[in-house]
Amino acid sequence: MAERISAQSQPAGTQWTTKRFHVKHSTNLRTIETAPESGDFHETPLARELTVNNRRLRDIDSQPIQRPQRTRIFTISNQKGGVGKTTTAVNLAAALAQKGLKILVIDLDPQGNASTALGINHHAGTAGIYEVLIDGISLASVVQASPEMPNLFCVPATIDLAGAEMELFSMFDSTQRNLRLRQAIEHYLVEQPDRPDYIFIDCPPSLGLLTVNAFAAAREVLIPIQCEYYALEGLSQLLKNIDLIQRQLNPNLKLSTILLTMYDSRTRLASQVADDVREHFPRETLNAVIPRSVRVSEAPSYQQSVITYDKSSPGSIAYMEAAIELANKGANNG
Ligand SMILES: Nc1ncnc2c1ncn2[C@@H]1O[C@H](COP(=O)(O)OP(=O)(O)O)[C@@H](O)[C@H]1O
Ligand SMILES: [Mg+2]
Repeated sequence: MAERISAQSQPAGTQWTTKRFHVKHSTNLRTIETAPESGDFHETPLARELTVNNRRLRDIDSQPIQRPQRTRIFTISNQKGGVGKTTTAVNLAAALAQKGLKILVIDLDPQGNASTALGINHHAGTAGIYEVLIDGISLASVVQASPEMPNLFCVPATIDLAGAEMELFSMFDSTQRNLRLRQAIEHYLVEQPDRPDYIFIDCPPSLGLLTVNAFAAAREVLIPIQCEYYALEGLSQLLKNIDLIQRQLNPNLKLSTILLTMYDSRTRLASQVADDVREHFPRETLNAVIPRSVRVSEAPSYQQSVITYDKSSPGSIAYMEAAIELANKGANNG
């Protein structure tokens, strides 16, 4: 991967330095195309990888994307923290927006990481999803446009959301408190002349009331699975909860998509986990796999998705491929 290039991986006899690979904003591939033809550079694994990435980028640019007939509403859920929920929500959203679709991300995690990554103001006092759930104000009134790209919008989460579960419990009866988000989204979709093609709800790492609201509001569940040792632990609990929600709150909900994240191709464990997941969920698991990539983890600190931060990095390419696959696989799921 480009970001792992070290002085040792540079072939002997070439004139250029590793510095040329550290240029940001997708210049790596251009750099490689203009690299000297000296030595046997074009035979190195690095050169082969860059050639492949170049081809994948061209495919991504040329591939058409299907617009769903009606808004597809995804909840991105996994009660484990740090498995790539927020990263997946933000980057799939950016990838689809880049393809011209209209996307809304609803940040339902009090940490507000999705809001940060999309460059959305979510300081204390900013109206966001908390006010929608607790005060009943409209989603439309708190939607902000992301500076990332046109067509990409976000409902921010502020720290107030940390107390929302307690307040939902005390303020609403047992049916109402589960359906606050669903009612807000339904209202929004009726009111909006130009409805979004996709809504992604970024869930907190728990199976509490906020996550239940997301399950009740969505039609599809996307589970990101980190390709590491404990990956499948807790998954059966998550599946049981989805089943329960289907029976009691939302018969339209289905687990449509599993995305393997943080895949480290150097470890056998990662491929074992991936095989395991594919064996259990052959239809749901996307072919695209997200590699562990420094660029993916750097992007949020620049308030960006990896798609704009470094379009030609392996993580960005993988998220764009995942987005196209997701869109073309389930265009009729809306
Ligand atoms: N493909 C990846 N490569 C490297 N780091 C990643 C990748 N995906 C996520 N991360 C990093 O892992 C951490 C957890 O990811 P995050 O999306 O916040 O997980 P969650 O929302 O499930 O808690 C973050 O620091 C994020 O930048
Ligand atoms: Mg998160």
